[in-house]
This record gives sequence, C-alpha cells and structure tokens, in this order.
Amino acid sequence: MGSNTAASGDDMSVFDPVQVAPPLDMWKVRTEFMQDKSENKVDLGIGAYRNNEGKPWVLPVVKRTEEKVVTDENLNHEYLMILGMDSLSSSATKLLLGEKSRAILENRAFGVHSLSGTGSLRIGAEFLSKILNYKTAYVSIPAWDNHEKILHNSGFNEIRQYRYWDPATRSLDIDGLINDLSTAPENSVIILHMCAHNPTGCDPTKEQWTRIADVMQERKLFPYFDAAYLGFASGDLDEDAWPVRHFEERGFELFCAQSFSKNFGLYSERVGNLAIVVKKPQDKFKIQSQFNAIIRPIYQSPPAHGARVVNHILNDPVLRNEWKDCLKIMTTRIKNMRSELKLALERLQTPGTWSHITEHKGLFSYTGLTAQQVEYLKTRWHIYLYSSGRANMCGLNTKNIDYVAKAFDDTIRNVTQ
Ligand SMILES: Cc1ncc(COP(=O)(O)O)c(C=O)c1O
Repeated sequence: MGSNTAASGDDMSVFDPVQVAPPLDMWKVRTEFMQDKSENKVDLGIGAYRNNEGKPWVLPVVKRTEEKVVTDENLNHEYLMILGMDSLSSSATKLLLGEKSRAILENRAFGVHSLSGTGSLRIGAEFLSKILNYKTAYVSIPAWDNHEKILHNSGFNEIRQYRYWDPATRSLDIDGLINDLSTAPENSVIILHMCAHNPTGCDPTKEQWTRIADVMQERKLFPYFDAAYLGFASGDLDEDAWPVRHFEERGFELFCAQSFSKNFGLYSERVGNLAIVVKKPQDKFKIQSQFNAIIRPIYQSPPAHGARVVNHILNDPVLRNEWKDCLKIMTTRIKNMRSELKLALERLQTPGTWSHITEHKGLFSYTGLTAQQVEYLKTRWHIYLYSSGRANMCGLNTKNIDYVAKAFDDTIRNVTQ
C-alpha cells in the first residue's frame, strides 16, 4: 500500500501500487492505425460505420432533427427521470417488438431508457444478478468482449460459454450451440445477439432460432438479447427484430438491450433502451422501482440530447421513413463491399473459399485470417484489423478494395499459419 505523501513526508504516492491495465485490442489497433503515416493505410478494425470516403456519417435526418432540438425554446437541461424519457422507451420497445405485439397490447412490455447498449446491458445484468439472484450466464464463443466483463461486474459469479462459430465452415456451429444450451442449469441467463453478430457476422437462420427457442424453453433459460445492430443485418427493421419477436410470441419473459449508436450514428450520445417483456402486467411497477434503485447510484439519470433526437424521428412518420432510407444506404454499401471483396479475391484466385464474406451480415466478418496474417497485413500493407481476424466491412470503399484484395491474396499465399 502507498502512503499519503503529505502525511509521511517522503516521495511515495498513494498511486504507486497502480498497475497499467491490460491493453484493449480495440485501442491498440486504433492507436497503431492513427500513428501510421502511410497513404495506403486501411482501417478494418473500427467498430463503427464509415462512408465511401472512409469518414463517419452524420445521417441527414439526424442532423436536421438535432437542429430542431437545439432551437426548441421549450426544452431545457433539467434532469430526466431516473428511468429516462417515457416516450423514448415506449417507442423503442414498440420498434423492437412491433406495434401489434401481444406483450405491448397487454401492457406486458415496457422499457428503461439507458446509456446506449452497454448501459442497458449493465443495468439489466445487475437486475438479474441482484434482484432475481441469477448466478450463471452464458456468452457465445466468440462474443463481443464486453459481455463477459459486464456480467462479471454486475455480480454474475459463473460465466460460461456456448459454442457458436465453426472455423471449419466459417458459419454457425448450431449443433454445438444446442448441445451447450441443453446442458445449461435452469435459470441460466443466455446472452443472444439478435442480429449481425459481433465479431463473426454470422447469424442463425429462422429455423435455427426456433431450435434455440425450443431448447431454452425446455431448459427454462432466460433470454437476454443484445440488439446493438437493429436494421444493420438486412436493412429491414422488422426482419432484423424477428428473433426477439419470435421469443416474445412464444411466451418468453425476456430482456433486450437496444443501442441506437450504430443505426442512428449517434455513438457518443449514448442512447439506448432496455426492453423488458413480462408475463404479468402488474409486475411492471415493482420492476421499475428496482431499476430506479439500481440506476441512481450508478449514473443518476440518462442524458437527454440524443434521446430527444431518436424520439422525434421514431414518432414522426416522415422522419422515420427518412431514417429507414438512411439505414438502407448504409446496409447496401456494406453488402456491395462484401460482394466486391469476394469477387476481387476470386478474380485473383486467392486460395480458399470466400462465400462466407457475402453470407455474413452487418458490419463484421470473421475472415479466417490468423493472428500472424493480421500482423503481416499491418506491417507489409498498412491494413489494420483485430488479431482474431475480425474485419469491419465498411472500412472498405471503392478506392481501397482492390488494394485490400491484393494484400489479402499476398498474405494468404505467403503467411501460411
Ligand atoms: C455486440 C455489441 N453489443 C453492444 C454494443 C454497445 O454499444 P453502445 O454502448 O455504443 O450502444 C456494441 C458496440 O460495439 C456491440 O458490438
């Protein structure tokens, strides 16, 4: 233990024992990319949308709505309620479940406006661990690396993994997944990526989701969906929300952490919603009261600006349609980049098969590149991606795609492990 300098009179600091925390892959890749002076450098590491110029995109409908919000004389900077904006949480929950969902019509679905996807995941996990006393949670292999940390910090003392990715086929290991869930203890919490799985880009089909729901119903497992990419898998909101709607229709009680970072491009505004489906409408009040108790000591109440923007857009039919068009623009660009990369690799007759690139959905693909190949891409070609081989497909654009394909081809031929 360090001692206080003023009290002890020596030059010891109370902070001397602090160790540097292990580096995060995302910051390492980001920093190395920023420091690289090459004109050809390509960032396939970033976890955000980029346009064809390689730049972040402020959605035009978001920009116009923001202008309306900041000039609205009726708005101020008073605290929001602990559970945030009612109208945002109910619009977000309807967006997820559909206006005609039975849970909504029967007043069994509601939301808690929280700090984007991460904050929503965190408060939901704390509720499950501290209020319902759930102790075991499962994450996919591989998963978004924050899932395990969020669960751990929320009080889960047993975090297990279920099989998800089959490296041989570069697709879902559905039998492994079903097998692992079928041996999970009752009341385990299962984190499920609703769509556009991060990091693999590989989603279950509807038939596979039905099998997942069957085993979860049989084993009495609690579905905790992560909806960070609604609209980003197919470009269609209803299609992407199908897995959560299927579970709701089958009578599951569930949580779903919704993020508006990617689909509204509002990353830094921290807009999210924890959607909750219960069996008995009368449970809503008790549950909300516990969320008040969980949230207040963590962050008191959520921020308002981004939430106002999302709320306006979701509740105005014209703006909402414009937003859907923006989603189409983003997803179409990503899909085009996927097809062009596949075509370019096939033209070069790069060893291996590349259909997984176009089969995967959303921002990411597990390319199948090894850590050594990723390192070589960085040093020889100035192309940056995660050591797992995860590549963000919208780091590609019409100017760099041939360069990236040539680099992948060279790497695969010359770095064989
Ligand atoms: C799978 C997944 N869940 C949740 C999040 C949370 O994002 P945010 O907190 O910005 O909404 C991300 C962000 O990358 C993600 O990839």
